[in-house]
Amino acid sequence: MSKPERHVFICVQSRPAGHPKGSCGAQGSGELLRAFQDNFEARKLWGRFAVTQCGCLGPCSEGPNVLVYPEGILYAGVRQGDIDAIIDEHLIGGTPIVRLYPTEEAWSNES
Ligand code: FES
Repeated sequence: MSKPERHVFICVQSRPAGHPKGSCGAQGSGELLRAFQDNFEARKLWGRFAVTQCGCLGPCSEGPNVLVYPEGILYAGVRQGDIDAIIDEHLIGGTPIVRLYPTEEAWSNES
């Protein structure tokens, strides 16, 4: 495997129903992961970039959360409709998408 230019980590953490932290899994991250993978397949992006599922990234209440390396940029509340922007603007274009950053409140709510 060649070193990817950028690596997308998608939180697929789940917690029991009613857990106070909630989870990205309960907010559709599994479907988001599959949509990213389908998009990579359709656009032949494998090899240049990578997508990997991961556990909790921190601000669970604003999930699904997506982390992009090497910059270490975290996106919150990512929907399938945001995938093209993440690929075109950040992965290919190199410009992070500020509108998808988590709020400061999301971090302060975590313990
Ligand atoms: S469960 Fe996804 S960030 Fe915590």
